[in-house]
Amino acid sequence: MNRTARWLLLLPLLLNLSCRQTAPLDTCIIPQPQETEPLGGVLNLERPLHVEIESPDSEALAAWIVTTGLPLADPSREGQPVRFPQLRLACSDDASLPESEEGYRLEITRRGVEILSRGEAGLFYGLQTLQQLYDHYGAELPCMRITDAPRFPYRGLHLDVSRHFFDKEFVKKQLRMMARLKLNRFHWHLTDGAGWRIEIDRYPQLTDVAAWRRGATWQQWRDGGHRYCRRDDPEASGGYYTKADIREVVALADSLHITVIPEIEMPAHSEEVLAVYPGLSCTGKPYATGDFCIGNEATFEFLEHVLTEVMELFPSEWIHIGGDEASKQGWKSCPKCRERMRREGLASVDELQNYAVHRINGFLAGHGRRLIGWDEILDGGLAPDAVVMSWRGEEGGRKAAAAGHEVVMTPGSHCYFDGYQDNPTTEPQAFSGYLPLRKVYAYDPAPDAMPGREWIRGVQANLWTEYIPTPEQAEYMLYPRLFALAEVAWSQPGQKNFDDFHRRALDLTERIRRAGYNAFDLAHEAGERPESLTETDHLARGCRVDYATRWRDQYAAGGETALTDGLRGSWSYGTRWQGFLDDIDVTIDLGTTKPLHEITADFIQWFSAWVWLPMRVEIAVSDDGREFRTLATLTNDYPEEAERPEYRAFGWQGEARGRYVRYRAWRNDRPGGWLFTDEIIVR
Ligand code: ACM
Repeated sequence: MNRTARWLLLLPLLLNLSCRQTAPLDTCIIPQPQETEPLGGVLNLERPLHVEIESPDSEALAAWIVTTGLPLADPSREGQPVRFPQLRLACSDDASLPESEEGYRLEITRRGVEILSRGEAGLFYGLQTLQQLYDHYGAELPCMRITDAPRFPYRGLHLDVSRHFFDKEFVKKQLRMMARLKLNRFHWHLTDGAGWRIEIDRYPQLTDVAAWRRGATWQQWRDGGHRYCRRDDPEASGGYYTKADIREVVALADSLHITVIPEIEMPAHSEEVLAVYPGLSCTGKPYATGDFCIGNEATFEFLEHVLTEVMELFPSEWIHIGGDEASKQGWKSCPKCRERMRREGLASVDELQNYAVHRINGFLAGHGRRLIGWDEILDGGLAPDAVVMSWRGEEGGRKAAAAGHEVVMTPGSHCYFDGYQDNPTTEPQAFSGYLPLRKVYAYDPAPDAMPGREWIRGVQANLWTEYIPTPEQAEYMLYPRLFALAEVAWSQPGQKNFDDFHRRALDLTERIRRAGYNAFDLAHEAGERPESLTETDHLARGCRVDYATRWRDQYAAGGETALTDGLRGSWSYGTRWQGFLDDIDVTIDLGTTKPLHEITADFIQWFSAWVWLPMRVEIAVSDDGREFRTLATLTNDYPEEAERPEYRAFGWQGEARGRYVRYRAWRNDRPGGWLFTDEIIVR
């Protein structure tokens, strides 16, 4: 064969190679890296990688690498001349690297893998990316260059271990998954009314009694009158972390580049403390309130002693002090609180709460720490340098950011993973709200137009556990939604694409299910309430509605056209459902007298949100709008105490004629209870 013929034979191969060079890569990495460039060719890992690390903390990285499953050469041969393929990790201040110490550049060539970063964390995250690539491609890694850095420095997960206790092994397992997703803050909600979970030497009653309840679930504790028992009670259920447990968790987190932020709740959510140290409450009696007495110096002594032991265990600069949902009622009549208000010139109980937060802020600052709290710490004036965690929507966070305070966004609407992720009538019992993967993914904590957006330090998913009694259920609620949160926190908004993310999330969900995480089965997600996906056409559509009782503004759903606009509510009562705190009494004018066969409306029961099906419904018609003939009177047989969400139609079917349709629904008599309906359908 002559030379030309040989070249011609090679041509298809060469063409194939050049195609490979330009083909985009479907890398399956979560969170999506900033830039991925294919370099052409493949690194074959049939031959193991020779590891070389140039970084001050090379031992920690070397220890981590052996856990990744990457094929590694025997380290005893190190020190010999450079051998290939190589896995080289190096800290470098090369100007072309991302500025962030968490950023990195990863290059895969036929000679091996090189990861460069300005910091240890960046090398660690580069390794996470490499591990995901290896999981996806196996031993044939496409050559590529990835340049990557996080959008936000704070990328968090919160876990409530008070409502249900989760042991240290569970916590460590979730920390490992956090690291894989490049999350770097673990907010440990260690204390709350349902149980104290951290050993404090000075106050043994906290873990001898306040950490234990009869009955395994939060519901049993709630329904049994919020009582605690001794740890040696035969029916005791609960638990706490010893100091050794906490040191173990903090050390693992540190090796995973995760900071653990402890939360010690004050001045409210403290029923468990006041049950065992009742002298710290305004009444002096156990089981009377969850608020500490702010007038009593002993309260501050207690809190400062506890925080001192907490700071010994947790190196985190930020210490979370809760601050949310104080009732403040007892303070109004408490002589000590009133005396404190008089002496300090405080005009309201909001200012009294603020006094407590400022005082604790000063104490923490004196120990080189910073206070972070839920957005209620804004009420009455924010302490200087305090960090705000915005949960009651984004408003608190926006206000604090605009005033130049650091903020972490955790709005209930997008970050509370205790809500349903799929059809609430078939999913395991959860708290309120419908928060599917798509909605978490859509969140932007710092949109371009937000004033002060540079103060948004990041974003966090919160897992409150009232309805999460087991570790399996906790994982079910966390994954895959935590993948979406990770991409919100790490990737730039311009890179986000839900369809592409969904493909990657399916892959990773399957992978972690095989690895023993009880993730929600994303491949079988049912999705949004079917009625809400199309418009409903019917005789009353577009007709005028007279409201004898009016909706509430926070659930207007479009106001006076809501009940005849053809648009149906989603699984969430907050979307397109009209909310009433009174009975409903509305009349629709069809324009002319018409034959009628059906009149119906859907309602919701959502116990945890205090939303109930109507006790009774009456449907009537009229020709003149004055004289009405009742077509149906309906009652409700769904139990009021049923906690599972329920969607039910209350309707009439038959033969009638009329121009005016009057629909009345009676609320049950629970104070503050809601009625929600989305459309009155007439056929
Ligand atoms: C909260 O959800 N109470 C912070």
